Amino acid sequence: MSGSRNDWFPTPIWLFKVDNYEQLNQELLKAIYDEKKRDTPEESLRDRKGKQWSNILGWHSIDTLHQLTIFQSLSDIIYNNVIEVGTFLNWDLDKFKINISTCWAIINQKYAYNSIHNHPNSLLSGVYFLKTPLSCGGIYFSDPRPATQMIVPPVKDFNMWTLPKITYKPYEGMMLLFPSWLSHGVETNLSEEDRVCINFNLAMKPV
Ligand SMILES: [Fe+2]
Repeated sequence: MSGSRNDWFPTPIWLFKVDNYEQLNQELLKAIYDEKKRDTPEESLRDRKGKQWSNILGWHSIDTLHQLTIFQSLSDIIYNNVIEVGTFLNWDLDKFKINISTCWAIINQKYAYNSIHNHPNSLLSGVYFLKTPLSCGGIYFSDPRPATQMIVPPVKDFNMWTLPKITYKPYEGMMLLFPSWLSHGVETNLSEEDRVCINFNLAMKPV
């Protein structure tokens, strides 16, 4: 006689491959590097100064990029993917709206990384990769149940029930969506080239 098993409280991370990402990334990269150029001490007086959050050495833009026209097509892609997620989760999308609350770019040059963090006051968060040179570092997510590390028996192989963290090797055109409470970080960029991504938070709004 064998028992049955239910896997309650799973933690989903969604991966989307964006179609025709080459042209989109080219346009977005230009906009991001232009924004970085504008991020000067004089401009900071006009509230365009980048932010410091989880980024170590890297550059973090202002967090309102979604309000710029050039980011509209990416916003549309994000919305479509979020609807797919919400539909899977059985959200009643007649009863609330989802909007992009913040959106920012990160340029990690060599040796830059992002320490482990989560995204407070948000529903879903995501990242879209624009430039991912070899050895630019993965994005990792930690098991949100730290108590599982109280006793760790030896395993022949880790699987989704025993892994303490999961790392995604990013590629250009990859978008990840995940619950905002899920702790994550970015490994050190060991490439000579920049690693560039766009990050965003989604919030709930009443209809
Ligand atoms: Fe993050």
